[in-house]
Amino acid sequence: MSAQADGAAVTVATLKKMKANAQRFACLTAYDAAFAGVLDRAGVDVVLVGDSLGMVVQGVETTIPVTMDHMIYHSQLVARGMRRPMLMVDMPFMSYATPETCLANAARLMKEGGAQVVKLEWGELQLDMVRRLSECGIPVCAHLGLTPQAVHKIGGYRVQGRDDATASKLREDALALEQAGADILLLECVPMALAAEITQAASVPVIGIGAGPDCDGQILVLYDILDIAPGKRTRFSKNYMAEATGIEDAVHAYVTQVADGTFPTAEYAFE
Ligand code: KIV
Repeated sequence: MSAQADGAAVTVATLKKMKANAQRFACLTAYDAAFAGVLDRAGVDVVLVGDSLGMVVQGVETTIPVTMDHMIYHSQLVARGMRRPMLMVDMPFMSYATPETCLANAARLMKEGGAQVVKLEWGELQLDMVRRLSECGIPVCAHLGLTPQAVHKIGGYRVQGRDDATASKLREDALALEQAGADILLLECVPMALAAEITQAASVPVIGIGAGPDCDGQILVLYDILDIAPGKRTRFSKNYMAEATGIEDAVHAYVTQVADGTFPTAEYAFE
């Protein structure tokens, strides 16, 4: 069972308390009510309706074609299927390109989709957006490191922050985002030592994916851990079906390993 196993609904405050108590929390993506129910029963703390739904549900090559209507539709399905986990929802590509669209779309994800936290990918413009969302009482998760919506600009899905200059920039950005009001930081494909440093320096919870064992929480794409995602599995995700008796058992094994710190090992992280 997860570290927060008393049955109370998980909130941003719960995650902050877990960070303070050095209790690891487990997050996974979901895109429909049936899987949301499985994740709830297996003890997942945070469910993300990720724009990864483009690749794993819609069969497209990147997250770029995903729209606000897609995100709202899948959030509604997930929200109906679960009770305890906190529902975090991705703001899709270009839905937060200006302060006006950002605010209006974040409000739609909350009002129509049932989101409790919205997640957006980091770029220079986002500091003001995060500040504005926070001033309006909208909980925000800022996604740094590898930001898949910028794949064509980055030139591929690569580990970020490997040299001194990019590592310092990531450290600065993370703290600036926290000061601007981000409630949660998410680090994707960042060397584990850097992720550990940022997690220690940040007073808000830090979720890692391909960011090593020292983040406060971990997230993976559900279909990766069930080994049903199209294409090659990413280096940082683990096939939990290999030793499971079924889907709920696989998810429960992931939750247990995150909570007791046995996932991820260095094998699933980057130097
Ligand atoms: O879209 C997604 O599923 C994500 C996670 C991989 C963090 O952003």
